[in-house]
Amino acid sequence: MKLKLSVIGCGYLGATHAACMSSLGFEVVGIDTDPHKVELLQKGELPFYEPGLDTLLAAEVKTGRLTFTTDFSAVADADVHFICVGTPQSKDGLAADLTYVKSSVAAIAPHLKDGALVVGKSTVPVGTAQALHDYLAEHAPQADLAWNPEFLREGFAVEDTLTPNRLVVGVANDRAEEILKEVYEPVIALGTPWIRADLPTAELVKVAANSFLATKISFINAMAEVCEAAGGDVTVLAKAIGYDPRIGNRFLQAGIGFGGGCLPKDIRAFMARAQELGADQALEFLREIDNINLRARQRVIDVVRADLSEDLTQYKIAVLGATFKPDSDDVRDSPALDIAAQLSAAGAQVVVHDPKGIEPARKRFPNLDYAEKVVDAVKGADAILHLTEWKEYRELDPSVIGQLVKGKFLIDGRNMLDRNLWRNAGWRVHALGRTD
Ligand code: UDX
Repeated sequence: MKLKLSVIGCGYLGATHAACMSSLGFEVVGIDTDPHKVELLQKGELPFYEPGLDTLLAAEVKTGRLTFTTDFSAVADADVHFICVGTPQSKDGLAADLTYVKSSVAAIAPHLKDGALVVGKSTVPVGTAQALHDYLAEHAPQADLAWNPEFLREGFAVEDTLTPNRLVVGVANDRAEEILKEVYEPVIALGTPWIRADLPTAELVKVAANSFLATKISFINAMAEVCEAAGGDVTVLAKAIGYDPRIGNRFLQAGIGFGGGCLPKDIRAFMARAQELGADQALEFLREIDNINLRARQRVIDVVRADLSEDLTQYKIAVLGATFKPDSDDVRDSPALDIAAQLSAAGAQVVVHDPKGIEPARKRFPNLDYAEKVVDAVKGADAILHLTEWKEYRELDPSVIGQLVKGKFLIDGRNMLDRNLWRNAGWRVHALGRTD
């Protein structure tokens, strides 16, 4: 008999995991407390934008294998339960808010059948899995707990779930590992490396990976600052060091830094947890990683002020890009929107364009102006800030845009536009970390 699965929390991670597990042939029930989200998912409609997931979800719902509900008792039938709820930064500090993780485990506990395996996928502070293990031992001793961190990137969610570069499982016994091997059998068959760890190591793998990625980005942004001061070019520097396979050329794209629902909050939660554990010195460097990251946003504002004026009240600024990265409609901790909001707070008239993120951005920053089309955003602008590297921005014709603006000043916050093309069309161009 094929295992039955449940997925608790149907946001980015959960909706992707549910649809992908269904595509592997499992019967999957997705549970979420938000009735609106569940209603959409039940119809096979995705509540957010993720390339490829919309069609996969629709196809899987149609098979009848994949269902969604708000009713937690629906887990009673399932053998394996994936916890995919959010762990946002808490309102009053750096630590992760574990409310949803705890409440979801408490909600399923009374319904778990004999031998059920609860599998955490959410990113949590180390020690959480053991605490949940102890909770189940008391409230649902018939069930076991494992941790199986998720490394999916937005924009590549389906690919990263079905063909991940590794599978990591934190387990307390062989049986839990065997169950997870049964779930991931088709993925393992592709040759995916399988790493068995204990519970704390599995939790740490995730935050260590994200800390390393954040460090790489802040490293290159620190080099960008030095390049600007010394008259160098960070893009050439990145290319040159990236040829060393020990360094590698990925995640060395200098610009306005990292944002999103994971990297910023994960490094902060990691620092907070290390402090609780008395290991705060070990992660002191992450504070600097965070500082460098936030400074990259400030540098854009400084360049705008230096070029236009200290007093921005008479200026109109067009911001291209609102999402934290392209191919996503996610604006959580978006560096682009942060810059837009800060310029607006400084008195500038800011008009934001984004191919997918305008509605979520409007919800977060209702006071900014938004334009559906680039041509409307740039009309009469004194400066254009390219802050999220959507492909369509690379296809803009600087001569056409030049006829619409008031001042031909471009800041490339992602080092992705063809500077010479823009300069040849009469634009002043400032690219972060490049001086020529
Ligand atoms: C990240 C991790 O990559 C993923 O493994 C984890 O599961 C969740 O967090 P994601 O948040 O989707 O994924 O975004 P990612 O592609 O990592 O980009 C994060 C941020 O870093 C974006 O704002 C991006 O613009 C920025 N970035 C990335 C850079 O500024 N430079 C780079 O070279 C790479």
